[in-house]
Formats: sequence, structure tokens, C-alpha cells
Amino acid sequence: MKTALITGITGQDGSYLTEFLLAQGYTVHGIIRRSSVFNTNRIDHVYKDPNAVNGHAQLFLHYGDLSDPGLLTELIYNIRPDEVYHLGAQSHVRVSFDMPEYTGNITAMGTTRLLEAIRRSGVRPRFYQASSSEMFGAAPPPQNERTPFAPQSPYAVAKLYAYWMACNYRDAYGLFACNGILFNHESPRRGETFLTRKVTRALAFMLSGKQRTVYLGNLDARRDWGYAPEYVQMMWLMLQQDQPDDYVVGTGQTHSVREFVEDAFAYVGIELEWRGAREHEQGIVRSVASRWDHVLRPGDVVVQVLPKYFRPTEVDVLQADITKVRQRLHWEPRVLYHDLVRIMVDYDLLFEGLEPPGEGIAVEQTLGYTWIQQPPYNVTGGLDSYQRMPIKAERRLASTVAELLAQVESDDLVE
Ligand code: NAP
Ligand code: GDD
Repeated sequence: MKTALITGITGQDGSYLTEFLLAQGYTVHGIIRRSSVFNTNRIDHVYKDPNAVNGHAQLFLHYGDLSDPGLLTELIYNIRPDEVYHLGAQSHVRVSFDMPEYTGNITAMGTTRLLEAIRRSGVRPRFYQASSSEMFGAAPPPQNERTPFAPQSPYAVAKLYAYWMACNYRDAYGLFACNGILFNHESPRRGETFLTRKVTRALAFMLSGKQRTVYLGNLDARRDWGYAPEYVQMMWLMLQQDQPDDYVVGTGQTHSVREFVEDAFAYVGIELEWRGAREHEQGIVRSVASRWDHVLRPGDVVVQVLPKYFRPTEVDVLQADITKVRQRLHWEPRVLYHDLVRIMVDYDLLFEGLEPPGEGIAVEQTLGYTWIQQPPYNVTGGLDSYQRMPIKAERRLASTVAELLAQVESDDLVE
């Protein structure tokens, strides 16, 4: 059976890819960063302590960091993986404007360190580089493998460097290296400061009476949002081909941030209207389903635009042209935007101990994602949500917790 090494195993994609590879019978090794708090929440449910169940563990974790080339070489040499999935990165676009040098060090140079570790170790794994649609930047949609890149952020520039390094090691050393140019993909495990999860989590907090308003930036940017579990399957599929190549993966659809907010609220029966312009815009409750009228009322300001969440340079529209993956890999996305919204809202309600409408969870089950082992807790908060469901939501806006959360929402560190 094959052995895979994953950088970024603790992230959204790393966790789904781990489950997928374990389900295929792989032995999986992952690099985790040392942290003063637990950072393995997304993979704890599939981890078995090798000491406790000797001989049965298929998932092994190693401390490491993309800034540490010696350790990367040692890990590659000792593990001798058949496949390396390089997902580790400083992956937040807005944060990359605050930390451009760090982003370059980890997202760009981290890739070179890993590629050099492979070259110097003499091991010849197949290599997946987590490239990004953000590299297309200002290029008009739809974007495909031949679209000229026009990066608009330090993150995108760093990813572009990493993209070309993967191409160069393929050409110069014959490495089986593939760039997956993935458009935005989301899930209930998405980091809480990315747009989709920030919205669905805030909605769940509002419905449980813990939060009054979500603060956002540019409502008019458009993204091609897909479902993360489908996209990690594509990472694997690229490495199973006869020849290495680069592929765009997306849904082919594009929706605005504004639509995402409206559709998330509408799914639970809350209709919004917008007032004001650009930096001063507000999302206001127009009507509320009776189930939630004890926590939200018409006229409540649930979305407030804040200038600090705008980016110095924005990517206005991303929309994938997926002709190549359709033709070469015979792939078609099955979870499209509207189901994605439902899935994410359902789980965030569940995590908050609220009974979800359930249409999103039903879609997941119908599509047979049997290799996903949903953790029995909130993947980011540690709550045993299944045990708590359902509880009655109450209006508790005056509590200290609510005030604290409102402050955190306004904090510079929440992007
Ligand atoms: P994510 O949730 O932010 O995960 C990033 C991972 O990288 C985490 O495991 C993180 O570890 C790790 N990491 C960060 N800095 C590191 C360092 N110095 N050394 C080692 N590991 C480090 O990202 P994701 O959404 O799963 O995305 C996976 C990859 O695909 C990223 O490279 C991202 O840029 C790229 N990508 C994502 C999308 C998308 O829409 N999700 C689209 C295109 C490309 P901690 O858990 O310790 O922070
Ligand atoms: N994060 C965030 N927070 N984004 C906001 C907010 C907010 O409060 N308000 C509006 N937005 C807009 C952003 O300006 C952007 O246009 C859009 O929502 C999506 O932002 P993110 O969810 O942060 O994702 P991203 O598109 O910048 O980057 C993600 O996708 C890339 C692929 O295109 C990340 O996952 C990258 O790692 C990935 O490469």
C-alpha cells in the first residue's frame, strides 16, 4: 500500500485529504507545527495513538515547519513517501498584506525547501502543489490553465512563485509534480476567518443569541465556491495520471459575497435588505421566520460593512473554466453553490446546538461521502454539538459572552 506525506494536515483540506487517503488504504504521515494549544482538532477523530494500538495506526504525525529545511529533508528521507501533498501555507489573503515577508517565507520559500528536500533525499515521490485561483488575480473570467496570471496580493505572488518552482522541478529534474489550481473551496471545517465560514458561523451565533452583527468588507467580490471534500479527491486523482500536469478545479459558477450572505440567512427563513453604500453599507432584517423571532427582529442590523476588511487590492471575479478536468479527468463537481450554503449553515447550527433545516446534510448523505468521518465535536470550538442538539435558543444579547464576542468580531485579528 502507498504512503503519503501531507504538509498542512491540520488545515481544512489536509483533514479531508487524510480521511480520503486512509479510506483508500494509504499510510498517511502529516507535518504539524508545535503550538501552545492543541491544533489537531480537525484530525483528532481519525488519529489513533501508535503506542496504544501498535501495528494498526495508519496516521502518523511529526513535528515540523516549512521554515525548517533540515527537518523536511529528514522527514522525506525517513518516511520515503510515494506521494507528497504540499498543502501547508500562510493561506489567508488579507493577512498576507499584513505579513508579506512571512507569507513569502512560508508559502513561497516553504515550497522550495520541500522540493529541495525531495531532490536531496534521493526519494522520488509524486508531488502535489496547492496552487490557487488567487494567482489569476485581475485576469478576466472565466479563468483556465492558459489564462495569464495577474496576482493581486502578497499571497498570490508567493503562490505564483511556488507554482513555477513546481513546474521547474518537473522540467529540470523530471519530478512528477502537479499544480492543482483550485478555486475557493469551503466546508464546515473552513477556517473561521474566511468569508463563508465567518458568515455561517455568525448566523449560527445570532440564532443562539450570542452575536448581534457580523462585520464584513467587500460585498461585491465574486468567487467560484466549491465543496472542499470533492476538491481533495482531485488532488489525489492528479497524482494517479500517467503524466504530471496542471489543472484548474472549480465549479464554473460565480456568486458574490452579498449573495452568499443573503442565501445563508434566507435558508433559515430570514430575509435581508441592504441600506447605505459601499463602506457604510448595512444588512438589515426585513422579515424573520417565527422560529427565530425571539432572537432576531425586523430592523436588526445583522451585517455591518467596515473599511478595514477591504483589501488594498481585490480580486473582483473568479470563475473557473473546467474544460480540462472535465475532458482529461472526467470530473464534474457535484456540490454546487446552493447546496454548499445549506451544508455550511446546517453544520454551524448543529455546532451551536441548534436543530438545522437539514437539507445540506441530506445532500452530503445522498452523494455518499462515506469516507468523511464527521468529528463528534465542533472542529474549531471543541463542543460536543451532537450531544447538545437540540436546545432552545434564547435572546441573551446582554450577556458578558455576547459583549466579548462582539469585541472579538471587531478586533483587527479577525479577518
Ligand atoms: P488552511 O486551512 O489555512 O490550512 C493551512 C495549513 O498550513 C494548516 O495545517 C497550517 O497549520 C499549515 N501551516 C501554516 N504555516 C505553516 C508552517 N510554517 N509550517 C507548516 N505548516 C504550516 O488552508 P486550506 O484551506 O486547507 O488550504 C490548503 C492549501 O491549499 C493552502 O496552501 C492554501 O493556500 C491552498 N488553497 C486553498 C484554497 C481554498 O479555497 N481552501 C484554494 C486554493 C488553494 P496550523 O493548523 O498549525 O495553522
Ligand atoms: N475573509 C473575509 N472576511 N473576506 C471578506 C470579508 C471578510 O470579512 N468581507 C468580504 N470579503 C471578501 C474578500 O474581500 C474576498 O473577495 C472574498 O470575500 C473571499 O475572501 P476569503 O474567504 O478570505 O477567500 P479568498 O478568496 O481571499 O482566498 C481563499 O481562496 C483562495 C483561492 O482563490 C483562500 O482560501 C486562499 O488560500 C485561496 O488560495
